[in-house]
Amino acid sequence: MSANRGQWSSRIGFIFAAAGSAIGLGNIWRFPYVVGENGGAAFVILYLGFVALIGLPYMFGELALGRVAQRNPVGSIDAIKPRSRWRWAGILGVLTGVGILSFYGVIAGWTVGYIHKMLTNNPGGFEQFVADPWASLFLYALFTLLTISIVYNGIEGGIERWAKILMPILFVLLIILIIYSNSLSGSGGGLSFYLNPDFSKITGSTVLAALGQAFFSLSLGMGLMITYGSYLSKQENLVTSGIYIGIFDTMIAFMAGLIIFPAIFAIKGNMEAIDASLRSGPGLIFKVFPEIFSQMPGGIFVGVLFFILLSVAALTSTISLLEVEVAYLIDEKGARRKTIVWAAAAVTFFVGIPSAVSQGGSDFFTNFGLIPERFAGPDFLSQMSFIFGDLALALGAFLLSIFIGWVWGADKAADEIARNSPFFAKTRSVWMFMIRYFIPLVIFLILLNVFGIFN
Ligand code: PHE
Repeated sequence: MSANRGQWSSRIGFIFAAAGSAIGLGNIWRFPYVVGENGGAAFVILYLGFVALIGLPYMFGELALGRVAQRNPVGSIDAIKPRSRWRWAGILGVLTGVGILSFYGVIAGWTVGYIHKMLTNNPGGFEQFVADPWASLFLYALFTLLTISIVYNGIEGGIERWAKILMPILFVLLIILIIYSNSLSGSGGGLSFYLNPDFSKITGSTVLAALGQAFFSLSLGMGLMITYGSYLSKQENLVTSGIYIGIFDTMIAFMAGLIIFPAIFAIKGNMEAIDASLRSGPGLIFKVFPEIFSQMPGGIFVGVLFFILLSVAALTSTISLLEVEVAYLIDEKGARRKTIVWAAAAVTFFVGIPSAVSQGGSDFFTNFGLIPERFAGPDFLSQMSFIFGDLALALGAFLLSIFIGWVWGADKAADEIARNSPFFAKTRSVWMFMIRYFIPLVIFLILLNVFGIFN
C-alpha cells in the first residue's frame, strides 16, 4: 500500500510544500500584530530563539516519526505502539486539523473577497461585508473548492506542483510590497519601532506568547509534519530540510513586518493611533489595510496585490490541513483519494458554517460565548481559533513530544533523524535531552499560559 501513497519528487519540492504549510495567515497577519503588542524587536529576538531551540528540534521529531512509519499521525503512532491509548494523540491531531481548517478557510475566503473589493475600489465596510452570511459562505465554499482541486491531484502532481508555483509568487509580491511600503514618507518610524528592541516590554506572558506563535506558525502540534514527513524519502537529510523550512517561515514573517509597520506609521504616525479593538482579530488586515491603501497613491493596486499575497499564503496552508485528514482516511480506512477529498472537505466545510455566520450573520453564533471572554471573543470563529489554534496545538505538541521522547524512545528517533546528517549524529545527545525534558516542560508552561496563569 505504501507504494501508492505518493512521495515528494524532490527535496526542494518537499521544502516548498512544508514551508507553504508553515507560511500562512499566521505569518502575514498574526505575527506582525503580536510583535506590535509585545515590544517590537525584543519580541522578534525572543521568537527567533524559540524557533531555533524548541520549534525546530520538535519538528525533527514529527518528521522522523512520519518518515519511519510512512503513515498519517494516527497510523504512525499505531506503527510504533500498536493499539495503545497513544493513538488518541493522533486522533486529536486529525481533529485539530479539521478544527483549524474550518475557521481558517472562512478567513481565507475573506481574503479572496477583498481582492474583489479592492478591484472594485470599495475598501471599507468590513463589518457589513462579514455580516453577510451568504457572501461569507460563498467565498468559503470557493476557497474550499480551490483547496480540493489541488489536494485531489495528490502529493507530487497536486501539492508539490502548486507549492513550487505559488511560493515564488508569494515571495515576489512580498518584495514589491516591502519596497512600496518603505518608500512612503513617514514610514521610517515604523522601521525603527520594528527593529529597535525595547527589552523592558518583555514579561512572562510575552515570552510564552512568542512560543505559542512559533508553534502555530511552523504548523506544529497536530501531526502535520508527521504527515508531510511520511512522503519523504529515506535519502533526505531531515535536519537541513527542517532548518530551511524554519528559515523560510521566519523570513516571511519578518518580511511581513517590513510591509506592515512602515505602512501603519506612514499613515497613522504610530501604533497607538490604531483603535485598540482593531489591533487584534480579523480587524487588522481587513480594516486598517484597505484604509491605509486607499489613502496612498496607487494604493488600490497595491491593496489588490496584498490580498492576492494573503490568499496565496493561506492556500498553501489549507491544502496541507486538508491533506492530514485525507492521508488519515486513505491509510486507515482504505479510501480512494479522489473520492475522499470531496467527503473530507465537505465535512470540514460543514464544521465551518457556524464560523462563517458568526460575524453578525447569526446572532446565536455571533454571541456564542461558550469559552469565557478572557480567553477569546464571544463569536464562534474566535472560539474555534482559541480551542484549535491555541489549546489543541499546545496539547498535541506536549503529547507528541512525550510520545517521541519516551514511548518511541529518543534514541530510536535520533537514529532516524541522524540518517544522512553527520552533524546531527555528533550532537544527538543534546536533541535527546531536549525532546524528553526541555520541550515538554516548556510546552506545559504554554498550556498554563493559555489558561491565563501568567496574566
Ligand atoms: N502555519 C500556518 C500559518 O501560519 C497555520 C497552520 C497551523 C497550518 C497548523 C497548518 C497547521 O498560517
